[in-house]
Amino acid sequence: MPVDDFSLSANSITGESTLVYQDVARQVQKTKGIRIINFGIGQPDLPTFAKIREAAKKSLDEGFTGYTSAYGIDELRQKIAEHLSSKYESVRKEEVIVTPGAKTALYLAFLLYINPGDEVIIFDPSFYSYAEVVKMLGGVPVYVKMKFNESTGFSLNLSELESKINKKTKMIVLNNPHNPTGMVFDPIEIEKLMEITKEKKVLLLSDEIYDYFIYEGKMKSVLEDPDWRDYVIYVNGFSKTFSMTGWRLGYVVAKEKVIKKMAEIAANIYTCPTSFAQKGALAAFESFDEVKEMISLFKKRRDIMYEELKKIKGIQVHKSQGAFYMFPFIGEILKKANLSVKDFSLKLIEEKGVTTIPGEVFPLEVGKDFVRLSFAVKEDDIREGIKRMKEFIDMLMTP
Ligand SMILES: Cc1ncc(COP(=O)(O)O)c(C=O)c1O
Repeated sequence: MPVDDFSLSANSITGESTLVYQDVARQVQKTKGIRIINFGIGQPDLPTFAKIREAAKKSLDEGFTGYTSAYGIDELRQKIAEHLSSKYESVRKEEVIVTPGAKTALYLAFLLYINPGDEVIIFDPSFYSYAEVVKMLGGVPVYVKMKFNESTGFSLNLSELESKINKKTKMIVLNNPHNPTGMVFDPIEIEKLMEITKEKKVLLLSDEIYDYFIYEGKMKSVLEDPDWRDYVIYVNGFSKTFSMTGWRLGYVVAKEKVIKKMAEIAANIYTCPTSFAQKGALAAFESFDEVKEMISLFKKRRDIMYEELKKIKGIQVHKSQGAFYMFPFIGEILKKANLSVKDFSLKLIEEKGVTTIPGEVFPLEVGKDFVRLSFAVKEDDIREGIKRMKEFIDMLMTP
């Protein structure tokens, strides 16, 4: 058999991810010597907080280097359960599985439920991996276009969502706070979504990985519903809140029976999350002062990015309330310059050394008029990067 005769699952992946643009930037830096300003990356720019690093080092020195339970270590499951119970409805340790990153948590959730032909409702725009994994499993992503308004931002468009639910619908995927738009959705909208989900008897996969990145307003978690066990698969992780992206630690919260099934799958795919990383994560729960400091730093950066973007003619931008992304509308600029958003991002890297992520990566229609910029970047670089972006757009707009 030819070695490049891949499976249907493997071939369903488009290969389009935010990482592609990092590769282009590296190449530009090497060949042109331009210092890259990177608005493309989805991670805090701070090192993992000291207590966490120390705890992981200690556990390594103590020889905690073997396999752990497929569920993750008991102390960490307990901590996660206690932490969530202190904020929301009660969660028990048996209702938690620790995974290698939130992406694996999402993968387990999809793998557990999706049969070929099953439909999964995904908002457009959304984190790219949801639709890719659904397709990989033979499922069908059904997109609900969010509505954009410069002053109010994006809204979930629940009437369209309701009209798309049918017998094949297995699941709705929610991400709040939202990548790539930076929205913290109106709690009333979230409540309505929860009601629709329950009424229509579908599952709600809720990815709340940005739950600490909130600059304005209040976030409604799906775990606030006392009936969450009946319909919720909750995903969160350590990557963003504690700047631990490379540690690969996430988790799922769901009814005990669901978690047991996930552990069976985990045991056959990756055995367990990394042992000493889990010990480090225990100390994350003593690091909320550091988290708070990071959030106020990011709030300042958000304000700077917003003010600078507002100065560019042709851009419409809503000030994000959450996550660490700004998602400005550049549709008119693209139309005038006769460029696709992908070409816009590529040219911006090539000519000005500024990395952004074209909105169509997220993953379909709506994003074609938007670019995503991360403000997890130093203040001076935000100013410099947006200045270069303005020069680039001015150049595009000059006949
Ligand atoms: C919405 C969302 N969910 C999940 C993830 C993946 O997180 P992890 O690095 O823990 O796998 C990301 C990372 O960018 C994300 O933006």
